[in-house]
Amino acid sequence: MKFARKVIITEFGAPEVMLVKKVELPDPAANEVQLRHTAIGFNFIDVYQRKGIYPLPLPSGLGHEATGVVEAVGSEVTQFKLGDRVAYMSAGLGAYSDYRNVAADRLVGIPNDISDEQAASLIFKGITAQYLLRKTHQVKAGELILIHAAAGGVGQILCQWAKGLGAFVIGTASSPEKCAIAQAAGADIAINYSKEDWPAALLEATGGKKADVVYDSVGKDTFLKSLDCAAPFGLVVLFGAASGPAPAIEPEILNKKGCLFLTRPSVFPHNADAAIFRENAAELFTAIASGWVKSSLGARFKIDDIAAAHHAAESRATQGATLIIP
Ligand SMILES: NC(=O)c1ccc[n+]([C@@H]2O[C@H](COP(=O)([O-])OP(=O)(O)OC[C@H]3O[C@@H](n4cnc5c(N)ncnc54)[C@H](OP(=O)(O)O)[C@@H]3O)[C@@H](O)[C@H]2O)c1
Repeated sequence: MKFARKVIITEFGAPEVMLVKKVELPDPAANEVQLRHTAIGFNFIDVYQRKGIYPLPLPSGLGHEATGVVEAVGSEVTQFKLGDRVAYMSAGLGAYSDYRNVAADRLVGIPNDISDEQAASLIFKGITAQYLLRKTHQVKAGELILIHAAAGGVGQILCQWAKGLGAFVIGTASSPEKCAIAQAAGADIAINYSKEDWPAALLEATGGKKADVVYDSVGKDTFLKSLDCAAPFGLVVLFGAASGPAPAIEPEILNKKGCLFLTRPSVFPHNADAAIFRENAAELFTAIASGWVKSSLGARFKIDDIAAAHHAAESRATQGATLIIP
């Protein structure tokens, strides 16, 4: 019997509830491959799930995204062979581990010119940016796009890709250093939203123009002000809750703020179909090859230091994509 090292939670709570355990690793089932993980992507949803904000049946593994090398294949797997480098972003919880069996149809091969670490920093966050910019709303040249937490993992990719599509991009971040990172990622203007009057600063910077689309992943602290920053008939995309869940609103407020549209999407339904997931990944890899989307590697943590990785993310000490190295 083989064994794997895997992060398990038996209760919700602080980062210290995550424990690295030795668990049995069965042979892959007929439709699975066995992976030796080479890099694991941290995503903010891992925090929500660890805390129980998005409840899970316990005990549970954590982590959605990783890259790895194929070390064994199930009897019915034809699309991958030993030694292939692959990535995934939605194959059930358990990416926080060194070895793992994964259904082959949830995997994509990593192009030769993309490293494993780059792929682990891009596959979940890049496919999130792909559906937000290409499906939730098809961003067009000349549109004014507001992106919160623009120095973060998803935020930098949104800035890069929206800029590549020809949009005028305004990014927000919590410090002058992070504002500079957002601008380096493609934001035309960066606003420090740790200042109370950031919507006024935004309007001053745009000459009074509001955003055609607001991408808000911060939630509680920004959501109501995001509604104020959207142009009449504009779209507010609430796609995260880094500061806590957004407050409930009466639908009538959308009328008062200018006949706004509001949506609360998720990456998982957009990639539930395995064939569509591969199409989405192909579009991401094309955007990378075109130079629009680049990896924005931030800090790396060993899997044994997983609690430190979560503390860093929750205290807003991270920028770009945080990796966990098995
Ligand atoms: N719905 C979906 O399909 C989907 C998919 C992927 C990710 N997401 C969401 O997208 C967001 C970005 O994900 P990510 O993994 O790339 O994380 P991230 O942006 O690297 O980290 C979250 C960022 O949120 C900002 N933030 C604002 N208030 C915060 C607070 N009170 N505590 C902690 N952070 C705060 C911080 O940037 P500043 O310091 O600049 O404020 C922080 O760096 C998350 O909200 C995540 O849940 C949603």
